[in-house]
Amino acid sequence: MKWTNSEFGMSYEQLLIPLFEGIDKAPNNALTGLSRSQRNLVNEAIKSDDFEGKNGQRMVVWTPGCRVLLIGMGKKDSLGHRQSRNTGARVMSSLSKAKGLEICVRFTSGWTRERMIDFAEGMMLRDYEFLEHQEVDDDHISEPWSVNFQASPRYQDALLKGLTEVHSVVEGVHLARNLGNEPANVLYPMEYARRATEWAADKDNVKVEVYDWEKLIELGMGGLINVGKGSDRKPCMVLFTLNPDADEGLQRPCIVGKGITFDTGGISIKPTGGMWDMKYDMCGAATVFGLIHSLYATGFQRRVNGIACLAENMPGSGAYRPGDVFKTYSGKTIEVFSTDAEGRNVLADGLWKAGELDPEYIVDLATLTGAVVVALGNQISGMWANDEGIAKRLKAAAKRSGEPVWRMPLNAQFRKYMTDSAFADIRNGSIGGRAGSSNTAASFLEFFVPTRGFEEDADKIPWVHLDIAGTAWGPGSKARSEGANPLFQYGTSGVHVRTLHRLITED
Ligand code: BES
Ligand code: MN
Ligand code: ZN
Repeated sequence: MKWTNSEFGMSYEQLLIPLFEGIDKAPNNALTGLSRSQRNLVNEAIKSDDFEGKNGQRMVVWTPGCRVLLIGMGKKDSLGHRQSRNTGARVMSSLSKAKGLEICVRFTSGWTRERMIDFAEGMMLRDYEFLEHQEVDDDHISEPWSVNFQASPRYQDALLKGLTEVHSVVEGVHLARNLGNEPANVLYPMEYARRATEWAADKDNVKVEVYDWEKLIELGMGGLINVGKGSDRKPCMVLFTLNPDADEGLQRPCIVGKGITFDTGGISIKPTGGMWDMKYDMCGAATVFGLIHSLYATGFQRRVNGIACLAENMPGSGAYRPGDVFKTYSGKTIEVFSTDAEGRNVLADGLWKAGELDPEYIVDLATLTGAVVVALGNQISGMWANDEGIAKRLKAAAKRSGEPVWRMPLNAQFRKYMTDSAFADIRNGSIGGRAGSSNTAASFLEFFVPTRGFEEDADKIPWVHLDIAGTAWGPGSKARSEGANPLFQYGTSGVHVRTLHRLITED
Protein backbone atom coordinates (compact mmCIF):
# COMPACT_ATOMS: atom_id res chain seq x y z
CA MET A 1 0.00 0.00 0.00
CA LYS A 2 1.17 3.49 -0.83
CA TRP A 3 -0.05 6.04 1.66
CA THR A 4 -0.09 9.75 2.36
CA ASN A 5 -1.66 11.88 5.03
CA SER A 6 -3.26 15.28 4.69
CA GLU A 7 -5.85 17.68 5.99
CA PHE A 8 -9.42 17.31 4.73
CA GLY A 9 -9.36 17.94 0.98
CA MET A 10 -9.84 15.74 -2.05
CA SER A 11 -12.29 12.86 -1.79
CA TYR A 12 -10.74 10.46 -4.37
CA GLU A 13 -12.54 7.58 -6.12
CA GLN A 14 -13.55 5.86 -2.92
CA LEU A 15 -14.15 7.78 0.28
CA LEU A 16 -14.20 5.87 3.55
CA ILE A 17 -15.79 7.57 6.54
CA PRO A 18 -15.70 5.68 9.82
CA LEU A 19 -18.45 7.14 12.01
CA PHE A 20 -19.56 6.77 15.61
CA GLU A 21 -23.00 5.82 16.77
CA GLY A 22 -25.62 8.48 17.38
CA ILE A 23 -25.03 11.06 14.68
CA ASP A 24 -27.78 12.15 12.34
CA LYS A 25 -25.73 14.24 9.99
CA ALA A 26 -22.22 14.12 8.61
CA PRO A 27 -19.67 15.56 11.06
CA ASN A 28 -17.73 18.68 10.08
CA ASN A 29 -15.35 18.05 7.19
CA ALA A 30 -16.63 14.54 6.51
CA LEU A 31 -17.91 15.64 3.13
CA THR A 32 -15.26 18.17 2.16
CA GLY A 33 -14.55 18.16 -1.57
CA LEU A 34 -17.93 16.73 -2.54
CA SER A 35 -20.45 18.70 -4.56
CA ARG A 36 -23.72 19.82 -3.00
CA SER A 37 -25.67 17.01 -4.67
CA GLN A 38 -23.13 14.42 -3.52
CA ARG A 39 -23.31 15.79 0.02
CA ASN A 40 -27.10 15.58 -0.05
CA LEU A 41 -27.00 11.92 -1.01
CA VAL A 42 -24.61 11.07 1.82
CA ASN A 43 -26.48 13.12 4.40
CA GLU A 44 -29.76 11.45 3.44
CA ALA A 45 -28.12 8.08 4.01
CA ILE A 46 -26.72 9.08 7.38
CA LYS A 47 -30.09 10.47 8.43
CA SER A 48 -31.92 7.30 7.43
CA ASP A 49 -32.56 4.49 9.89
CA ASP A 50 -30.52 2.21 7.66
CA PHE A 51 -27.26 3.60 8.99
CA GLU A 52 -26.88 4.15 12.71
CA GLY A 53 -23.11 3.89 13.10
CA LYS A 54 -23.36 0.68 15.05
CA ASN A 55 -20.24 -1.44 15.24
CA GLY A 56 -19.97 -3.62 12.15
CA GLN A 57 -22.48 -1.64 10.12
CA ARG A 58 -21.55 -0.59 6.58
CA MET A 59 -23.29 1.37 3.90
CA VAL A 60 -22.13 2.22 0.41
CA VAL A 61 -23.51 5.46 -1.01
CA TRP A 62 -22.95 5.79 -4.70
CA THR A 63 -22.44 9.36 -5.83
CA PRO A 64 -21.26 10.52 -9.27
CA GLY A 65 -17.46 10.13 -9.34
CA CYS A 66 -17.10 8.99 -5.75
CA ARG A 67 -18.16 5.87 -3.94
CA VAL A 68 -18.71 6.74 -0.31
CA LEU A 69 -18.42 4.01 2.30
CA LEU A 70 -19.95 4.74 5.69
CA ILE A 71 -18.42 2.55 8.39
CA GLY A 72 -20.12 2.07 11.75
CA MET A 73 -17.65 2.20 14.65
CA GLY A 74 -20.10 1.85 17.54
CA LYS A 75 -19.95 4.07 20.61
CA LYS A 76 -17.09 6.54 20.65
CA ASP A 77 -16.11 5.87 24.26
CA SER A 78 -15.93 2.13 23.89
CA LEU A 79 -13.70 2.04 20.81
CA GLY A 80 -10.57 0.09 21.75
CA HIS A 81 -7.48 -0.65 19.70
CA ARG A 82 -8.66 -4.12 18.85
CA GLN A 83 -11.98 -3.09 17.40
CA SER A 84 -10.42 -0.22 15.49
CA ARG A 85 -7.69 -2.42 14.00
CA ASN A 86 -10.07 -5.24 13.15
CA THR A 87 -12.54 -2.86 11.51
CA GLY A 88 -9.76 -1.36 9.40
CA ALA A 89 -8.83 -4.88 8.31
CA ARG A 90 -12.40 -5.90 7.53
CA VAL A 91 -12.98 -2.76 5.52
CA MET A 92 -9.82 -3.42 3.54
CA SER A 93 -10.99 -6.93 2.73
CA SER A 94 -14.33 -5.65 1.47
CA LEU A 95 -12.94 -3.09 -0.97
CA SER A 96 -12.58 -3.74 -4.66
CA LYS A 97 -9.59 -2.36 -6.53
CA ALA A 98 -11.70 -2.36 -9.68
CA LYS A 99 -13.73 0.48 -8.18
CA GLY A 100 -10.68 2.72 -7.95
CA LEU A 101 -7.22 2.33 -6.45
CA GLU A 102 -7.10 5.84 -5.05
CA ILE A 103 -8.97 5.99 -1.80
CA CYS A 104 -9.30 8.26 1.13
CA VAL A 105 -9.99 7.53 4.78
CA ARG A 106 -11.42 10.45 6.70
CA PHE A 107 -11.13 10.58 10.48
CA THR A 108 -13.54 13.21 11.75
CA SER A 109 -15.04 14.04 15.11
CA GLY A 110 -14.31 11.64 17.96
CA TRP A 111 -11.17 10.04 16.53
CA THR A 112 -8.00 10.00 18.62
CA ARG A 113 -4.49 9.73 17.24
CA GLU A 114 -4.03 6.23 18.61
CA ARG A 115 -7.27 4.84 17.21
CA MET A 116 -6.54 6.30 13.76
CA ILE A 117 -3.19 4.51 13.69
CA ASP A 118 -4.80 1.28 14.88
CA PHE A 119 -7.39 1.53 12.09
CA ALA A 120 -4.68 2.18 9.50
CA GLU A 121 -2.61 -0.68 10.89
CA GLY A 122 -5.53 -3.06 10.37
CA MET A 123 -5.89 -1.88 6.78
CA MET A 124 -2.19 -2.32 6.12
CA LEU A 125 -1.97 -5.74 7.78
CA ARG A 126 -4.86 -7.04 5.72
CA ASP A 127 -3.50 -5.61 2.48
CA TYR A 128 -1.55 -8.77 1.71
CA GLU A 129 -1.64 -11.58 -0.79
CA PHE A 130 0.74 -14.38 -1.63
CA LEU A 131 0.49 -15.25 -5.30
CA GLU A 132 4.09 -16.23 -5.99
CA HIS A 133 3.37 -19.57 -7.55
CA GLN A 134 0.11 -19.27 -9.43
CA GLU A 135 -1.33 -17.58 -12.45
CA VAL A 136 -3.55 -14.74 -11.37
CA ASP A 137 -7.00 -14.12 -12.82
CA ASP A 138 -7.19 -11.69 -15.72
CA ASP A 139 -9.12 -9.20 -13.65
CA HIS A 140 -6.68 -9.29 -10.77
CA ILE A 141 -5.10 -5.90 -10.12
CA SER A 142 -1.56 -6.11 -8.80
CA GLU A 143 -0.98 -2.38 -8.55
CA PRO A 144 -0.94 -1.26 -4.93
CA TRP A 145 -3.64 0.71 -3.21
CA SER A 146 -2.98 4.37 -2.77
CA VAL A 147 -4.52 5.57 0.46
CA ASN A 148 -4.78 9.13 1.70
CA PHE A 149 -5.49 9.34 5.43
CA GLN A 150 -7.19 12.61 6.31
CA ALA A 151 -7.64 14.32 9.65
CA SER A 152 -7.67 17.85 11.02
CA PRO A 153 -4.48 19.95 10.93
CA ARG A 154 -3.61 19.35 14.56
CA TYR A 155 -3.20 15.62 13.93
CA GLN A 156 -0.91 15.85 10.91
CA ASP A 157 2.41 15.46 12.74
CA ALA A 158 1.17 12.54 14.80
CA LEU A 159 -0.40 10.95 11.74
CA LEU A 160 2.77 11.19 9.68
CA LYS A 161 4.88 9.75 12.47
CA GLY A 162 2.42 7.02 13.42
CA LEU A 163 1.69 5.91 9.87
CA THR A 164 5.37 5.85 8.94
CA GLU A 165 6.10 3.64 11.93
CA VAL A 166 3.20 1.29 11.52
CA HIS A 167 3.77 0.87 7.79
CA SER A 168 7.39 -0.14 8.43
CA VAL A 169 6.38 -2.62 11.13
CA VAL A 170 3.79 -4.15 8.82
CA GLU A 171 6.49 -4.65 6.17
CA GLY A 172 8.15 -7.00 8.65
CA VAL A 173 4.87 -8.82 9.31
CA HIS A 174 4.41 -9.34 5.58
CA LEU A 175 8.00 -10.54 5.22
CA ALA A 176 7.36 -13.10 7.97
CA ARG A 177 4.17 -14.20 6.20
CA ASN A 178 5.98 -14.56 2.88
CA LEU A 179 8.58 -16.83 4.47
CA GLY A 180 5.90 -18.89 6.19
CA ASN A 181 3.75 -19.25 3.10
CA GLU A 182 6.59 -20.45 0.88
CA PRO A 183 6.34 -24.18 0.31
CA ALA A 184 9.09 -26.34 1.77
CA ASN A 185 10.49 -27.24 -1.65
CA VAL A 186 11.23 -23.55 -2.19
CA LEU A 187 12.17 -22.43 1.32
CA TYR A 188 14.64 -24.88 2.91
CA PRO A 189 17.24 -24.01 5.56
CA MET A 190 20.02 -22.69 3.32
CA GLU A 191 17.48 -20.77 1.21
CA TYR A 192 16.35 -18.94 4.35
CA ALA A 193 20.03 -18.22 5.00
CA ARG A 194 20.49 -16.98 1.44
CA ARG A 195 17.51 -14.64 1.75
CA ALA A 196 18.77 -13.30 5.07
CA THR A 197 22.25 -12.71 3.63
CA GLU A 198 20.78 -11.00 0.57
CA TRP A 199 18.53 -8.86 2.78
CA ALA A 200 21.54 -7.70 4.79
CA ALA A 201 23.84 -7.08 1.82
CA ASP A 202 22.87 -3.45 1.18
CA LYS A 203 22.44 -2.41 4.84
CA ASP A 204 25.41 -1.24 6.86
CA ASN A 205 23.87 -1.48 10.33
CA VAL A 206 22.95 -5.14 10.14
CA LYS A 207 25.06 -8.26 10.28
CA VAL A 208 23.93 -11.72 9.20
CA GLU A 209 26.11 -14.71 9.92
CA VAL A 210 25.35 -18.25 8.74
CA TYR A 211 26.55 -21.40 10.48
CA ASP A 212 26.38 -23.96 7.70
CA TRP A 213 26.71 -27.76 7.99
CA GLU A 214 30.52 -27.71 8.38
CA LYS A 215 30.36 -24.99 10.99
CA LEU A 216 27.63 -26.81 12.94
CA ILE A 217 29.85 -29.88 13.05
CA GLU A 218 32.87 -27.83 14.09
CA LEU A 219 30.85 -26.24 16.91
CA GLY A 220 29.13 -29.45 17.94
CA MET A 221 25.59 -28.18 17.53
CA GLY A 222 24.11 -31.64 17.94
CA GLY A 223 20.49 -30.49 18.10
CA LEU A 224 20.55 -28.97 14.63
CA ILE A 225 22.82 -31.68 13.22
CA ASN A 226 20.70 -34.58 14.41
CA VAL A 227 17.35 -33.16 13.38
CA GLY A 228 18.67 -32.05 10.01
CA LYS A 229 20.91 -34.92 9.01
CA GLY A 230 18.13 -37.06 7.53
CA SER A 231 17.55 -34.49 4.80
CA ASP A 232 19.54 -33.59 1.68
CA ARG A 233 18.74 -30.02 2.61
CA LYS A 234 21.23 -29.48 5.38
CA PRO A 235 20.44 -27.52 8.56
CA CYS A 236 21.97 -24.20 9.53
CA MET A 237 21.81 -21.45 12.10
CA VAL A 238 21.29 -17.86 11.00
CA LEU A 239 22.43 -15.11 13.36
CA PHE A 240 21.11 -11.60 12.88
CA THR A 241 22.53 -8.55 14.62
CA LEU A 242 20.89 -5.18 14.19
CA ASN A 243 23.22 -2.27 15.02
CA PRO A 244 26.17 -4.47 16.01
CA ASP A 245 28.23 -1.45 17.06
CA ALA A 246 25.62 0.08 19.35
CA ASP A 247 25.23 -0.39 23.12
CA GLU A 248 28.72 -1.71 23.73
CA GLY A 249 28.86 -3.37 27.12
CA LEU A 250 25.07 -3.24 27.53
CA GLN A 251 22.79 -6.24 27.72
CA ARG A 252 20.26 -6.33 24.89
CA PRO A 253 17.39 -8.64 23.82
CA CYS A 254 17.94 -11.83 21.85
CA ILE A 255 15.07 -13.51 19.95
CA VAL A 256 15.33 -17.17 18.97
CA GLY A 257 13.05 -18.93 16.45
CA LYS A 258 12.25 -22.53 15.56
CA GLY A 259 12.72 -22.95 11.84
CA ILE A 260 11.75 -26.44 10.75
CA THR A 261 11.18 -25.81 7.06
CA PHE A 262 9.28 -29.08 6.91
CA ASP A 263 8.37 -31.44 9.72
CA THR A 264 7.51 -34.92 8.51
CA GLY A 265 8.07 -36.16 12.04
CA GLY A 266 11.17 -38.02 10.82
CA ILE A 267 11.36 -41.74 11.64
CA SER A 268 8.51 -41.14 14.11
CA ILE A 269 6.61 -40.12 11.00
CA LYS A 270 3.40 -38.13 11.16
CA PRO A 271 0.14 -39.48 9.75
CA THR A 272 -0.74 -38.13 6.30
CA GLY A 273 -3.64 -36.01 7.47
CA GLY A 274 -1.54 -34.00 9.86
CA MET A 275 1.34 -33.28 7.59
CA TRP A 276 0.49 -30.80 4.87
CA ASP A 277 0.63 -27.79 7.16
CA MET A 278 4.08 -28.68 8.48
CA LYS A 279 5.58 -26.29 5.94
CA TYR A 280 4.50 -23.72 8.54
CA ASP A 281 6.82 -25.25 11.13
CA MET A 282 9.38 -22.51 10.54
CA CYS A 283 7.11 -19.63 11.58
CA GLY A 284 9.18 -18.90 14.69
CA ALA A 285 12.20 -18.28 12.46
CA ALA A 286 10.00 -16.29 10.07
CA THR A 287 8.99 -13.99 12.93
CA VAL A 288 12.64 -13.48 13.88
CA PHE A 289 13.50 -12.34 10.33
CA GLY A 290 10.35 -10.20 10.07
CA LEU A 291 11.01 -8.60 13.44
CA ILE A 292 14.60 -7.71 12.57
CA HIS A 293 13.30 -6.14 9.36
CA SER A 294 10.64 -4.18 11.27
CA LEU A 295 13.22 -2.85 13.69
CA TYR A 296 15.52 -1.93 10.83
CA ALA A 297 12.75 -0.29 8.80
CA THR A 298 11.56 1.82 11.73
CA GLY A 299 15.11 3.08 12.18
CA PHE A 300 15.63 1.53 15.60
CA GLN A 301 19.11 2.51 16.76
CA ARG A 302 19.86 -0.02 19.47
CA ARG A 303 21.42 -3.46 19.26
CA VAL A 304 19.15 -6.50 18.93
CA ASN A 305 20.06 -10.12 18.19
CA GLY A 306 18.04 -12.77 16.39
CA ILE A 307 18.82 -16.46 16.02
CA ALA A 308 17.02 -18.77 13.58
CA CYS A 309 17.44 -22.54 14.03
CA LEU A 310 16.77 -24.12 10.65
CA ALA A 311 16.43 -27.76 9.69
CA GLU A 312 14.24 -30.07 7.65
CA ASN A 313 12.97 -33.05 9.65
CA MET A 314 12.98 -36.03 7.29
CA PRO A 315 13.09 -39.81 7.59
CA GLY A 316 15.83 -41.61 5.69
CA SER A 317 18.82 -43.86 6.13
CA GLY A 318 20.84 -40.94 7.47
CA ALA A 319 18.15 -39.75 9.87
CA TYR A 320 18.34 -39.77 13.65
CA ARG A 321 16.23 -42.41 15.37
CA PRO A 322 14.24 -42.95 18.54
CA GLY A 323 16.62 -44.11 21.25
CA ASP A 324 19.59 -42.18 19.87
CA VAL A 325 21.57 -40.17 22.38
CA PHE A 326 23.45 -37.11 21.20
CA LYS A 327 25.32 -34.17 22.63
CA THR A 328 24.02 -30.64 22.09
CA TYR A 329 26.01 -27.42 21.81
CA SER A 330 25.65 -27.02 25.58
CA GLY A 331 27.41 -30.30 26.24
CA LYS A 332 24.21 -31.71 27.71
CA THR A 333 22.93 -34.91 26.12
CA ILE A 334 19.45 -35.69 24.77
CA GLU A 335 17.84 -39.09 24.50
CA VAL A 336 15.54 -39.18 21.51
CA PHE A 337 12.11 -40.37 22.52
CA SER A 338 10.43 -39.22 19.35
CA THR A 339 12.11 -37.76 16.29
CA ASP A 340 8.93 -35.71 15.94
CA ALA A 341 9.81 -33.68 19.04
CA GLU A 342 12.47 -32.00 16.91
CA GLY A 343 11.74 -28.33 17.55
CA ARG A 344 13.04 -28.48 21.11
CA ASN A 345 16.23 -30.19 19.91
CA VAL A 346 17.17 -27.38 17.53
CA LEU A 347 16.13 -24.74 20.06
CA ALA A 348 18.46 -26.30 22.64
CA ASP A 349 21.38 -25.14 20.49
CA GLY A 350 19.77 -21.75 19.78
CA LEU A 351 19.12 -20.97 23.44
CA TRP A 352 22.64 -21.95 24.44
CA LYS A 353 24.10 -19.81 21.66
CA ALA A 354 21.95 -16.90 22.87
CA GLY A 355 23.63 -17.16 26.27
CA GLU A 356 26.99 -16.32 24.67
CA LEU A 357 25.59 -12.92 23.70
CA ASP A 358 24.91 -12.16 27.37
CA PRO A 359 21.41 -10.93 26.50
CA GLU A 360 19.16 -8.83 28.72
CA TYR A 361 16.49 -11.46 28.06
CA ILE A 362 15.74 -14.23 25.58
CA VAL A 363 12.39 -14.74 23.85
CA ASP A 364 11.95 -17.89 21.81
CA LEU A 365 9.09 -18.52 19.37
CA ALA A 366 8.18 -21.97 18.18
CA THR A 367 5.36 -23.93 16.57
CA LEU A 368 6.26 -26.43 19.24
CA THR A 369 3.29 -28.56 20.25
CA GLY A 370 -0.08 -29.67 18.91
CA ALA A 371 -1.25 -29.65 22.52
CA VAL A 372 -1.12 -25.87 22.77
CA VAL A 373 -3.67 -25.67 19.95
CA VAL A 374 -5.95 -27.96 21.95
CA ALA A 375 -5.43 -25.86 25.09
CA LEU A 376 -5.64 -22.31 23.72
CA GLY A 377 -6.99 -22.46 20.19
CA ASN A 378 -5.93 -20.32 17.25
CA GLN A 379 -6.06 -16.80 18.66
CA ILE A 380 -3.92 -17.06 21.81
CA SER A 381 -0.27 -18.08 22.04
CA GLY A 382 1.02 -20.05 25.03
CA MET A 383 3.60 -18.22 27.13
CA TRP A 384 6.04 -19.67 29.65
CA ALA A 385 8.58 -17.57 31.54
CA ASN A 386 11.20 -17.89 34.23
CA ASP A 387 11.04 -14.20 35.14
CA GLU A 388 8.04 -12.12 36.28
CA GLY A 389 9.29 -8.79 34.93
CA ILE A 390 9.78 -9.81 31.32
CA ALA A 391 6.63 -11.98 31.39
CA LYS A 392 4.55 -8.99 32.41
CA ARG A 393 6.10 -6.68 29.84
CA LEU A 394 5.66 -9.17 27.03
CA LYS A 395 2.07 -9.89 28.00
CA ALA A 396 1.24 -6.18 27.95
CA ALA A 397 2.92 -5.66 24.57
CA ALA A 398 1.09 -8.67 23.15
CA LYS A 399 -2.27 -7.46 24.40
CA ARG A 400 -1.81 -3.95 23.04
CA SER A 401 -0.83 -5.45 19.68
CA GLY A 402 -3.94 -7.62 19.49
CA GLU A 403 -1.79 -10.78 19.62
CA PRO A 404 -2.73 -12.13 23.05
CA VAL A 405 -0.71 -14.64 25.05
CA TRP A 406 -1.71 -16.78 28.02
CA ARG A 407 0.73 -17.68 30.77
CA MET A 408 1.27 -21.40 31.30
CA PRO A 409 3.12 -23.21 34.10
CA LEU A 410 6.68 -24.35 34.61
CA ASN A 411 7.13 -26.54 37.65
CA ALA A 412 9.10 -29.34 39.25
CA GLN A 413 6.76 -32.05 38.05
CA PHE A 414 7.03 -31.08 34.40
CA ARG A 415 10.79 -30.77 34.80
CA LYS A 416 11.01 -34.25 36.24
CA TYR A 417 8.88 -35.68 33.44
CA MET A 418 11.67 -34.67 31.07
CA THR A 419 14.87 -35.03 33.05
CA ASP A 420 14.72 -38.51 34.45
CA SER A 421 15.90 -40.27 31.33
CA ALA A 422 17.83 -43.43 32.15
CA PHE A 423 20.31 -42.83 29.33
CA ALA A 424 20.95 -39.11 28.95
CA ASP A 425 20.72 -35.76 30.73
CA ILE A 426 17.24 -35.15 29.35
CA ARG A 427 14.76 -36.89 27.08
CA ASN A 428 12.84 -35.11 24.33
CA GLY A 429 9.60 -36.81 25.31
CA SER A 430 7.81 -36.80 28.63
CA ILE A 431 7.34 -39.82 30.88
CA GLY A 432 3.94 -38.27 31.51
CA GLY A 433 2.99 -38.89 27.89
CA ARG A 434 0.44 -36.42 26.64
CA ALA A 435 -0.31 -35.02 30.09
CA GLY A 436 0.59 -31.34 30.01
CA SER A 437 2.77 -31.92 26.98
CA SER A 438 3.06 -28.24 26.04
CA ASN A 439 4.30 -27.62 29.57
CA THR A 440 6.79 -30.46 29.51
CA ALA A 441 8.09 -29.16 26.17
CA ALA A 442 8.61 -25.76 27.82
CA SER A 443 10.45 -27.44 30.71
CA PHE A 444 12.74 -29.10 28.20
CA LEU A 445 13.60 -25.68 26.75
CA GLU A 446 14.07 -24.23 30.23
CA PHE A 447 16.76 -26.87 30.78
CA PHE A 448 18.80 -25.26 27.97
CA VAL A 449 18.41 -21.64 29.10
CA PRO A 450 21.90 -20.71 30.26
CA THR A 451 22.76 -19.07 33.53
CA ARG A 452 24.28 -15.60 33.35
CA GLY A 453 27.86 -15.96 32.14
CA PHE A 454 27.39 -19.76 32.24
CA GLU A 455 28.34 -19.60 35.94
CA GLU A 456 27.05 -22.56 37.85
CA ASP A 457 25.52 -20.62 40.73
CA ALA A 458 24.31 -17.60 38.74
CA ASP A 459 20.63 -17.06 37.97
CA LYS A 460 19.25 -18.15 34.64
CA ILE A 461 18.92 -15.45 32.00
CA PRO A 462 15.35 -14.06 31.94
CA TRP A 463 13.53 -16.06 29.29
CA VAL A 464 10.11 -16.28 27.69
CA HIS A 465 8.93 -19.11 25.47
CA LEU A 466 6.02 -18.55 23.08
CA ASP A 467 4.33 -21.60 21.60
CA ILE A 468 2.75 -20.30 18.40
CA ALA A 469 1.58 -23.65 16.97
CA GLY A 470 -2.01 -22.38 17.05
CA THR A 471 -1.49 -18.74 16.14
CA ALA A 472 1.12 -18.81 13.39
CA TRP A 473 -1.49 -19.72 10.83
CA GLY A 474 -5.22 -19.66 10.87
CA PRO A 475 -8.01 -22.18 10.54
CA GLY A 476 -8.82 -20.44 7.28
CA SER A 477 -5.38 -21.32 5.97
CA LYS A 478 -6.34 -24.35 3.94
CA ALA A 479 -8.00 -22.27 1.28
CA ARG A 480 -8.54 -18.69 0.37
CA SER A 481 -11.62 -18.48 2.54
CA GLU A 482 -12.29 -16.13 5.39
CA GLY A 483 -10.69 -17.11 8.69
CA ALA A 484 -11.66 -16.04 12.18
CA ASN A 485 -8.97 -13.39 12.36
CA PRO A 486 -9.60 -10.42 10.04
CA LEU A 487 -5.94 -9.36 10.06
CA PHE A 488 -5.09 -12.03 7.49
CA GLN A 489 -7.09 -14.06 5.04
CA TYR A 490 -5.33 -17.39 4.66
CA GLY A 491 -1.91 -18.92 5.29
CA THR A 492 0.42 -17.50 7.91
CA SER A 493 -0.23 -14.59 10.24
CA GLY A 494 3.27 -13.26 10.96
CA VAL A 495 2.27 -13.43 14.62
CA HIS A 496 4.30 -11.56 17.26
CA VAL A 497 6.41 -9.44 14.94
CA ARG A 498 4.34 -6.52 16.24
CA THR A 499 4.36 -7.73 19.85
CA LEU A 500 8.13 -8.00 19.92
CA HIS A 501 8.65 -4.75 18.04
CA ARG A 502 6.57 -3.05 20.71
CA LEU A 503 8.32 -4.86 23.57
CA ILE A 504 11.76 -3.94 22.28
CA THR A 505 11.10 -0.36 21.20
CA GLU A 506 8.80 0.81 23.98
CA ASP A 507 10.97 0.16 27.00
N1 BES B 1 5.59 -29.05 14.71
C1 BES B 1 4.99 -29.93 15.63
C2 BES B 1 3.92 -29.27 16.48
C3 BES B 1 2.66 -28.87 15.77
C4 BES B 1 1.62 -29.79 15.66
C5 BES B 1 2.48 -27.61 15.30
C6 BES B 1 0.45 -29.42 15.04
C7 BES B 1 1.31 -27.25 14.68
C8 BES B 1 0.29 -28.16 14.55
C9 BES B 1 6.03 -30.51 16.59
O1 BES B 1 7.30 -30.68 16.05
C10 BES B 1 5.56 -31.84 17.03
O2 BES B 1 5.50 -32.71 16.21
N2 BES B 1 5.23 -31.98 18.31
C11 BES B 1 4.75 -33.18 18.86
C12 BES B 1 5.50 -33.45 20.14
C13 BES B 1 5.43 -34.85 20.63
C14 BES B 1 6.10 -35.81 19.65
C15 BES B 1 6.11 -34.95 21.98
C16 BES B 1 3.26 -33.01 19.11
O3 BES B 1 2.81 -31.91 19.39
O4 BES B 1 2.54 -34.00 18.96
MN1 MN C 1 7.53 -32.53 15.09
ZN1 ZN D 1 7.79 -29.41 14.50
